[in-house]
Parts: sequence; structure tokens; C-alpha cells
Amino acid sequence: MSKVHIFDHPLIQHKLSIMRQKDTGCKEFRELLDEISMLMVYEVTRDLPTEDVEIETPICTMKTKTLAGKPIGIIPILRAGLGMVNGILNLIPNAKVGHIGLYRDPQTLEPVEYYCKLPDDAEHRQLIVLDPMLATGGSAAAAITFIKQRGCSNIRLVNLIAAPEGIARVQKEHPDVDIYVAACDEKLNDHGYIVPGLGDAGDRLFGTK
Ligand code: PRP
Ligand code: URA
Repeated sequence: MSKVHIFDHPLIQHKLSIMRQKDTGCKEFRELLDEISMLMVYEVTRDLPTEDVEIETPICTMKTKTLAGKPIGIIPILRAGLGMVNGILNLIPNAKVGHIGLYRDPQTLEPVEYYCKLPDDAEHRQLIVLDPMLATGGSAAAAITFIKQRGCSNIRLVNLIAAPEGIARVQKEHPDVDIYVAACDEKLNDHGYIVPGLGDAGDRLFGTK
């Protein structure tokens, strides 16, 4: 069974509380998602392997550490996942970025794929899938399935807010994928929205409603 990591860091919780408020506008929402994504990836990458190297400081040589292991790939789920990309690239500027386009059919709540473009060497990378909202889990589970069908296996999922239903679905379909969230909310409503949540992340991010 995959692990669920919930970030209770005060800065993340404070920023998320502002994002949740209905009067928070598009610009501030976008900036906060950027900032939280940067704070989250710091923890998501905490266990990345390092290796010893010898370097020369202006004073002497020393043994120190650099990142080793697989290079990173980040994969936002369109649209709302795009809002998490820049914050992560601020800390991992060499990461390659793939995109998966999915929207949730409003009637069935099932994901419909409309775009998929991954880095050529995605299967050799540690992949981090991004989407602010994990509601039924249909979109994230489908995105991870597409990625696995392309031969990838090292995958982590990062969400801002998750519902218990979404976590359960991803854990059932992808027990090898750890999930990192800033908050796990109470439930879904009849329209598949997270309660209390923050509303429609894509619309709030891009100002489309
Ligand atoms: C939202 C959100 C997730 C999905 C979550 O996207 O960004 O991708 O819903 O719901 P699920 O867990 O029940 O699948 P949406 O389909 O609204 O598309 P958008 O990002 O283009 O607005
Ligand atoms: N998608 C969103 O943007 N918000 C929700 O609460 C559920 C799905």
C-alpha cells in the first residue's frame, strides 16, 4: 500500500487557508499555489539519493554531496496542474516537463483524455504528477495509468487538497505510488466537489468563471 504524506507545515496551512476563501482572486490564488508547490516539493524530494563528491572550495578540497539517482520529470495534469509547475521548477530547474490533458465529464465524473506528451526518456526519470485537486481520484488514477503504459514506474503524486475517496482510489489502483497532500478534506459532495475544498481549481487559477 502506498504512503500518504500530509504536510502540516504552518506556512503551507496558512497559505492554503487564503486559497480556500471564496473572495481570494485569481492573481493571489495563482501566486499562493506557486508558493505552496515550492514548499511541498522540498519535502517530496527529501529522500532523493545523494552521492559523495570531492570539490575544491577557495580554501581547500572537501567531500560533499550532490544529487544522484534518476533525474526528475514533472507531469502536470491539465489544466489546474499547470499552476504547480513553476514553483517546482524554481527548486528543480533541470526537471523535464510532460503534460497530460484530462477533463472530468460532468455527468459521469470519469476522466476523458485529450492530450499526452511526455519527455522521451520519461521511463528513466523519477516522475512527479501534479494536480491541485484529488476528488474521486479518477483523473489522477487515469493519468498514472497512461504514464505506466509508456513504461514508467517511479511515480509520486502531489496534490494540494485530497478527498478520502480520491486517496482510496489511487491507493487501490496504484499501490506503488506515494501521495503527498497539503490537506485531506472531509468528503465529496453530490457533484464530486471536495468539501470544504476550494471550489474549481482550474477556474479559480485561470479566471474562467
Ligand atoms: C479537476 C482537477 C482534477 C480533477 C479532480 O480538473 O484539476 O484534474 O478535476 O477530480 P477527480 O479526482 O474526480 O478526477 P477538471 O476536470 O475540472 O479540469 P480542469 O483542470 O481543466 O478545470
Ligand atoms: N475539481 C476541482 O477543481 N475541485 C474539486 O473540488 C473537485 C474536482
